[in-house]
Amino acid sequence: MDPARVEQLVHAIEGKDMSTAAHTWRVVLYTRAMAEEAGLDLDRIRHLTHAAALHDVGKLDIPREILAKPGRLTAEEFEVIKQHPVTGYARLVTLDVDDPLVLDLVRFHHERWDGLGYPYGYALEQIPVAARYFAVIDTFDALTSVRPYRHKVGDEAAHDAIIELKKGAGTRYAPDAVEMFSGLFETGRLDWILHYFNDECPVPRYGDVDQLNRAYAARRRE
Ligand SMILES: [Fe+2]
Repeated sequence: MDPARVEQLVHAIEGKDMSTAAHTWRVVLYTRAMAEEAGLDLDRIRHLTHAAALHDVGKLDIPREILAKPGRLTAEEFEVIKQHPVTGYARLVTLDVDDPLVLDLVRFHHERWDGLGYPYGYALEQIPVAARYFAVIDTFDALTSVRPYRHKVGDEAAHDAIIELKKGAGTRYAPDAVEMFSGLFETGRLDWILHYFNDECPVPRYGDVDQLNRAYAARRRE
């Protein structure tokens, strides 16, 4: 996909949802680290980082009152939220996106290994591999990012998040995806992403891919 178009959509998502630029950067960088660990070629890595950046593009089609609602959602509102993988997929198809990695990740990132996810209820290998791995990354980031109601942050939150992911391996998450992510995390090579791009620090614009590449390369050399 054209990086300028990715950036445009990422900005639109950030403007509509409470998601932050920091969240986008972190999931993109975790995705990239996982893809490298898996030995994928540069082209596929680039496609996957675009897919990660756009995973919640479907939220553009969810009413703002629901996305920004403080407090609990009603069952009906949650049903609307559960459509965002479908609306995201449809939106990208309308924009002539035909990259299967991007389409699969956007469409299936809330499916669960045991078939209890949404919106399709796919299970096991029915779920495309990119979406299975991304589900682990997205959960890890949700559990470790700064939230007003969360007391634990940083390493302590990460330690708990890894335990949570391992508990869910084979039910919520694909076991191989949890194994790879937790293994990579335990090497310490993801620490800089966890610590640097917190929700309160200013982050570069997503579209500045060169800057992202430099930041990533510099950290990898350390
Ligand atoms: Fe999502």
